[in-house]
Amino acid sequence: MSRGNLFVTLDDISLSGKRVLVRVDFNVPIKNGRISDDSRIRACLPTINKITQAGARVVLMSHMGRPKEGKFDPAASLNLVADHLAILLGEKIRFISDWNNLGEAGNERIILLENVRFQTGETKNDDQLARKMAAMCDIFVNDAFAAAHRVHASTCGVAKYAPVACAGPLLVKEMEALTTLFKNPARPMIAIVGGSKVSTKLNLLKSLLERVDQLILGGGIANTFLKASGANIGESLCEDDLLETATEIMGIAKTLGKQIPLPTDVVCGKNISDYAEARVKPVGKIDSDDLILDIGPETAKNYATALLKAKTIIWNGPLGVFEIEQFSRGTGIIANAIADSPAFSVAGGGDTLAAIAKFGIAPKLTYITTAGGAFLEYLEGKTLPAIAMLEERAQAWRATEREY
Ligand code: 3PG
Ligand code: MG
Repeated sequence: MSRGNLFVTLDDISLSGKRVLVRVDFNVPIKNGRISDDSRIRACLPTINKITQAGARVVLMSHMGRPKEGKFDPAASLNLVADHLAILLGEKIRFISDWNNLGEAGNERIILLENVRFQTGETKNDDQLARKMAAMCDIFVNDAFAAAHRVHASTCGVAKYAPVACAGPLLVKEMEALTTLFKNPARPMIAIVGGSKVSTKLNLLKSLLERVDQLILGGGIANTFLKASGANIGESLCEDDLLETATEIMGIAKTLGKQIPLPTDVVCGKNISDYAEARVKPVGKIDSDDLILDIGPETAKNYATALLKAKTIIWNGPLGVFEIEQFSRGTGIIANAIADSPAFSVAGGGDTLAAIAKFGIAPKLTYITTAGGAFLEYLEGKTLPAIAMLEERAQAWRATEREY
């Protein structure tokens, strides 16, 4: 069944003359007062255009950062986003900071509301706030897959109370790409999970192990597994209290007949800096004051060979400290192998997107999700509450004869 059957979509309803409230995820990184990556904004442009071209007015709402509720915080304002959006669309955007003065909005086709997290009750999914949002529109559209794991007023509550609640085109596209990963994926299927902490990705590792044929680990996660398997990892980043868990996961892999290959060589430094000397060492020859900062060339080559033969690839998390040139090769080789592989490939997460940009492989991946946390929760097999709410509304809507 296509996702379109699970949700009410923009194609199911008549938009002309309606006021459409769209939850987007414009939570973009801002560095030195500028938006450093606008992909989340660009990803929503087709949705906005589709709605305005159908003759409807759009009210956009999004969160930005994690400000204290009930208070304005200039650092988390969406005003920069409003300016940028206007440039991208080539159209005037009305930016409304005072949620109590919505009635003042003129006839602009596109309105952007100030950060939804300044509203008291947003992150608690407050009923009153949700009803207030719902009252702003004829149709609510959730196009914020990246925030679909949050039970907030703007992601869940509003969808409960809005006259119609539908899934936006971006959200549908994200769900379709991710559904393909888990529904009869072409095999072999490999997941690459890197990053610093085992603890945040523990459930992810366990649930991925059940689905994939091979799990490739990187960063602090790989170090923890190396240490658990008896290797000396010197001063490398590692979570000592999870060594037993790592051993347990390797045991599960064995029982299931799945592979978790560990690095056979690594790139070490004595500190993490642009000037640190990089040394390739076989695992087994690591000094007590060494830091493992990348996978070694032999390991990278072996992983790349496996990736080139894979039919499905999931990538979350870099393999080393790729921001520093001399420790970036492992991640670069893996990134290029994913790009060159004929596999259906999906990647996501903040650091992963930065690595994809650094190695210029974006056009060669099948799908890059805009989501970070929501992507991980989806991969863990969790139900995303905002998605569940849209499905619930769709069922009720289909049962009552599509009045719209
Ligand atoms: C993200 O960046 O992952 C989403 O925008 C969700 O943000 P949050 O983790 O602050 O809820
Ligand atoms: Mg996040």
